[in-house]
Amino acid sequence: MPTTAVLYCSDPLDGRRADTHFAEEARHLRAAGGRVLLLDHDALLAGDAGRAVSRVPVGTGALWYRGWMIPAARYAALDAALRERGAHLVVDPERYRRAHELPGWYATFADLTPYSSWLPTAPGQVPASSALAALAGGLPSHAAVVKDYVKSRKHEWDEACHVPDTRRPEVLHRVVSRFVELQGDDLAGGVVLRGFEDFVTPDGGPAEIRVWWLDGTPRLVTAHPDCVPGEIGALDLGPVRTAVEALDCRFVTTDLARRADGVLRVVEVGDGQVGDIHRDTHPGDLVGLLTGEQAEGAGLRGRDDVW
Ligand SMILES: Nc1ncnc2c1ncn2[C@@H]1O[C@H](COP(=O)(O)OP(=O)(O)O)[C@@H](O)[C@H]1O
Ligand SMILES: [Mg+2]
Repeated sequence: MPTTAVLYCSDPLDGRRADTHFAEEARHLRAAGGRVLLLDHDALLAGDAGRAVSRVPVGTGALWYRGWMIPAARYAALDAALRERGAHLVVDPERYRRAHELPGWYATFADLTPYSSWLPTAPGQVPASSALAALAGGLPSHAAVVKDYVKSRKHEWDEACHVPDTRRPEVLHRVVSRFVELQGDDLAGGVVLRGFEDFVTPDGGPAEIRVWWLDGTPRLVTAHPDCVPGEIGALDLGPVRTAVEALDCRFVTTDLARRADGVLRVVEVGDGQVGDIHRDTHPGDLVGLLTGEQAEGAGLRGRDDVW
């Protein structure tokens, strides 16, 4: 098997080292015989993809990426810059966008995830009230959640995320405006409205769990990085698996939550390369997934009555 090579974000203060957030993972990769390459994420986001990859030796071949999120267009620029050096990303730019942005994965997961509609929106531009009302009109309920193609402002829930009643145009407009304002230049793609669903936290379990899929197989099940950890019981991943297979992306995360009626829902999908890990998740487990050292289904254990 060829050596697994992973491009990690470098430390902004020392380009020769992995960013402290990823250093542990990089150390495990080296220990497993893998190869650590470094990316200047700041340079990439500033539009200088050539400088961003200047530490990648020529002829490195296929690379996974593990690091901070990258906007889809910048990811394409990264791949192009790597190709000029005889390297490329294992996950091609088209598939990265598909898993990373809601409009890319939504149709494939439509039966498993809250109803959503979206409007392409440039950073700083607030859609007109009439456009928002039209967007909200199709939602199955009158409560909604606002996000862009990639992220929400969940930590500013009342102010910039949750719309309790979309029939009140001034409230809808106020929450979306604040969301657009707080996202600033980072607004990804456009404004998304999602039908609110009543998610519940199982006793003793995390509110949300993150399943890491490689080539359509669930390889690691963890608490969502923002959640209090807990026992994760057996999951019926069948329908999610079918959707992940249909998405046809190599390395994917699905964040799952239990709805009040007991149905397991996909809150969001992501590209595994930019998925954060829970502080209680062993970085070696994630590395093992990329180096092929972990058996299928590891981490899939627990009590049936929780999840
Ligand atoms: N449709 C929804 N109904 C109810 N809660 C939601 C819905 N969508 C998101 N949430 C809540 O908001 C949080 C953030 O939403 P998410 O789509 O995961 O955005 P982010 O990318 O910011 O994590 C979720 O973890 C969940 O708790
Ligand atoms: Mg989330």
